[in-house]
Amino acid sequence: MKIFNYFFYYVWFVLSLFSSCTPQSKSSMQSSPDQNISVSFFLNDAGMPGYKVSYKGETVIDSSLMGFDIKENPYLGKNMKITGVENSPFNEIWEMPWGEKRKVENHYNQMTVNLEEQLEPRRKLNVVFRVYNDGLGFRYEFLEQPGLNEVIIMDEDTRFNLTDNHICWWIPGDWDIYEHLYNETPITEIDALSKRGNPNLGQTYIPQNAVNTPLTMKTTTGLHLSIHEANLTDYAGMTLKVDKDVPGFTSELVGSDRLGYKLKRSLPFSTPWRTLQVSETATGLIESDLIVNLNEPNKLDDVSWFQPVKYMGIWWEMHLGISTWDISGTQDAGNVGSEKAATGTRHGATTENAKRYINFASENNIGALLVEGWNTGWERWTGFEDREGVFDFVTPYPDYNLKEVVQYGRERGVEIMMHHETSAAPRTYEQQLDTAFALMQSLGLHAVKTGYVGKIIPKGEYHHGQWMVNHYQKVIETAAKYQVAVNAHEPIKATGKRRTWPNAISREGLRGQEFNAWASDGGNPPNHLPTVAFTRMLAGPIDYTPGIFNIKLEPYKDENRVNTTLAQQLALYVVIYSPIQMAADLPESYEGHPAFQFIRDVGVDWDQSKVLNGEVGRYVTIAREERGTGNWFLGAITNEVPRSFEVRLDFLEPGQKYEATLYKDGPDAHWNDNPTSYEIETIEADASTALTLNLAPGGGCAVSILKK
Ligand code: NOJ
Ligand code: CA
Repeated sequence: MKIFNYFFYYVWFVLSLFSSCTPQSKSSMQSSPDQNISVSFFLNDAGMPGYKVSYKGETVIDSSLMGFDIKENPYLGKNMKITGVENSPFNEIWEMPWGEKRKVENHYNQMTVNLEEQLEPRRKLNVVFRVYNDGLGFRYEFLEQPGLNEVIIMDEDTRFNLTDNHICWWIPGDWDIYEHLYNETPITEIDALSKRGNPNLGQTYIPQNAVNTPLTMKTTTGLHLSIHEANLTDYAGMTLKVDKDVPGFTSELVGSDRLGYKLKRSLPFSTPWRTLQVSETATGLIESDLIVNLNEPNKLDDVSWFQPVKYMGIWWEMHLGISTWDISGTQDAGNVGSEKAATGTRHGATTENAKRYINFASENNIGALLVEGWNTGWERWTGFEDREGVFDFVTPYPDYNLKEVVQYGRERGVEIMMHHETSAAPRTYEQQLDTAFALMQSLGLHAVKTGYVGKIIPKGEYHHGQWMVNHYQKVIETAAKYQVAVNAHEPIKATGKRRTWPNAISREGLRGQEFNAWASDGGNPPNHLPTVAFTRMLAGPIDYTPGIFNIKLEPYKDENRVNTTLAQQLALYVVIYSPIQMAADLPESYEGHPAFQFIRDVGVDWDQSKVLNGEVGRYVTIAREERGTGNWFLGAITNEVPRSFEVRLDFLEPGQKYEATLYKDGPDAHWNDNPTSYEIETIEADASTALTLNLAPGGGCAVSILKK
């Protein structure tokens, strides 16, 4: 088998010496700048287009066909001929206005294959490949052509035929939400349908045995692969339908039951990039820039009006059931409709309460405060079919003086983070978008958290379909006009568009911390975040909302708790990247905790990031250098298995002395039995220092490394 592969590699290599092929040829190939990754494009005997990918001669995607099922038209992807191939290299360095690093290398070799049907209607289609050292992307270009102004796509059939029954870390291909736990199984054991009907989800629709992306896999030869998409614009989100026989996947786009198709576009247009990240190590996946690189450059130029920030929220108290979003007190999280809920006015978003949080934030180097439940409409936000016209994004409840709170915060260096829960009624939101953002601009507010809890209205649309993809984009573009940055919950997945629209700062799109407060299934298990770092995080920044110190949620919750140690909660500020990081717990939970110093100190914007070790679903250690200070912060987390390892600080500036403070699990710490046992140790460090990190079961370690 190996010899066979090397033989193919050799043939490809020889072929690649000819940079373009003749119009009659049936194949063509391109390689990454370092030659490790090769993609070959081919037409089979029936003129069906396909591709194959190898890494250092080992096949990673076996011959896989591609095509489109187009309404009232013949299948697009048969009887085709190659009319031309263009190859071109590209290399640039671009700068992130905020991010995990400052400078990003965008270095690839491109191959554009021009196709045309040999029979009527003789449609044309380009397939464009960009081959990087860390993976590749390809997309389809529907060209302007006579007689074809618009296509209605019933489905896209991009196949990903794999070579073996790889281990996958997957969530079901839910059309409405990504808030599922990850599963670790071989491809043939993926059973997405068993995830239907999750009682903890406000909306869920899993039509078939498919998974959502990023889908991370490990081969028996030790390669790490991840399939995702980049630049999802005016198109439907892609899920991957499982084919147990191959084994492999076929793209299955999210549809619209209302419209009866997957998507509609006028020509010309390009599809999103279908991406494959390839790495010999798990850590290489996190370090890959493929997804952002496959997006267009910044369209907003200067976004310095948004600065990465730590924030608190009138938020966790609602999730704990201490207070409510609505003023009448009937809508506390997890208790809606229960006896416990109807306990009268315990409105969280009051002027007084906001001032209390602002005082705490301003004393602790936290620059923003999210206030949820500030506006009218929360009485009907869930549990009602008709949610159109319910929310008002400019009118505060009578016990919340918006202007006074904003002013109080400004005087103390704390900016209010706006909140727009839409309850999945995007048309109501769109009607008010300009007014809502104009209000924010008039108040000098630059960030909003949005939310889309519930089934989408109109019925038959799904969170991840083309109609909603366009809605989320409209919000980003409208917000940008008013200098507003967006942190979307219940979002469309991140596909690297933060490069083009750097006001798309963060998003949820995973099972966040909030599930620990109310989920009926015991919350997020210790392996959740060591999995998220290698799956969801490959897509982009995550608003996970770390920093819960009252791990057992006492005395508020009997059945729920956080399933990590306290030290791991600190490490998450470094491991789980976002330019906005919440200190999610109540002020009183932080008081008297020396460990809170780490949250005060930790950076939120980085010059560079280094993934020091890790295995998917097991553990990961990341170190990041703060922009502007040259200080470093390090976070390590583990699943339920305790671990001990050494990390060398050889990335520190040579000759510079630092004070390193380790916030570590106590010797008796354990996520279940003893989660709040921690120790703090301060040492002098420099580039020659090696730290031994001992992580408890479900534990972690956070280190601040401050210049002396
Ligand atoms: C769900 C969001 O994920 C959560 O953070 C928020 O508090 C509620 N919706 C209310 O908007
Ligand atoms: Ca959510």
